[in-house]
Amino acid sequence: MQLAGTNVGTQEAVSEGVSVEGLTVKFRGTPLIEGISNLFEPNKVTAIVGPTGCGKTTLLRSINRMHDHVAGMQVSGKVVVEGVNVYGADVNVREVRRRVGMLFQRPNPFPRSIAENVGLAPRAHGLANRGNVRDLVQEQLTTVGLWDAVSSRLHGSPFGLSGGQQQLLCLARTLALSPDVILLDEPTSALDPDTTDHIEQLMKKLSERMTVLIVTHNLAQASRISDNVLFLMKGNVVEATSARTFFHDPADERSRAYVSGRIG
Ligand SMILES: Nc1ncnc2c1ncn2[C@@H]1O[C@H](COP(=O)(O)OP(=O)(O)OP(=O)(O)O)[C@@H](O)[C@H]1O
Ligand SMILES: [Mg+2]
Repeated sequence: MQLAGTNVGTQEAVSEGVSVEGLTVKFRGTPLIEGISNLFEPNKVTAIVGPTGCGKTTLLRSINRMHDHVAGMQVSGKVVVEGVNVYGADVNVREVRRRVGMLFQRPNPFPRSIAENVGLAPRAHGLANRGNVRDLVQEQLTTVGLWDAVSSRLHGSPFGLSGGQQQLLCLARTLALSPDVILLDEPTSALDPDTTDHIEQLMKKLSERMTVLIVTHNLAQASRISDNVLFLMKGNVVEATSARTFFHDPADERSRAYVSGRIG
């Protein structure tokens, strides 16, 4: 697979995970992420946890180059996705963002119709054409469990949907680009328990074919769905281990304190 150069078309990709190597992110010279290294294993869910302000969102955003246009933000080190350093010289950033999808805490549908939210980007990337885009829209909306609720209003506005439905729509929009990696930043913090449960089940299922990174403050959620945990404090890795070890027998005293609610 190639992130460099031109579009890679519709070829099936096998996820290779994400590796960050000596990643440092600074804002106006102040380090927010301090030279961290970690392999986010392919086909696993990794929960990124840690106290407010420790750098979880900053780390996620560095993986698909979301800091590129933030004045004062400086990224160094490597982020390797599918064998390619996304900060390499001839990398196609548009292709990086297709390969690495992102879902935010607040749903952010485009001000276009429900169908266009899912179908426009695949058409722009050459992953669908006029003839099959309708099928793709139906397939993705079905995957996220939204089809029955929206099939009669596909050309209506997404802003008439509930917050949970908007989040599912944004997930369908991301999945429509066949990403290898999906980054989720507190995706269920504003959702009811049923929608949260639905998204958690989907994450587990999606990890069969992609690498899933989820930031969450909900440790019960992290223990339910994650295979691995990366615990950050003040822009540094405290512990990176299996979820079983992190929640039951962590190596670091700070992890123990965090899991038991004494910090964070
Ligand atoms: N665009 C920005 N400009 C300046 N500072 C920033 C910016 N984004 C993040 N920071 C700083 O980087 C640090 C880490 O922020 P980040 O949003 O990554 O934390 P977080 O772990 O996601 O916290 P939370 O759990 O509250 O979402 C904070 O001190 C924050 O103020
Ligand atoms: Mg955050």
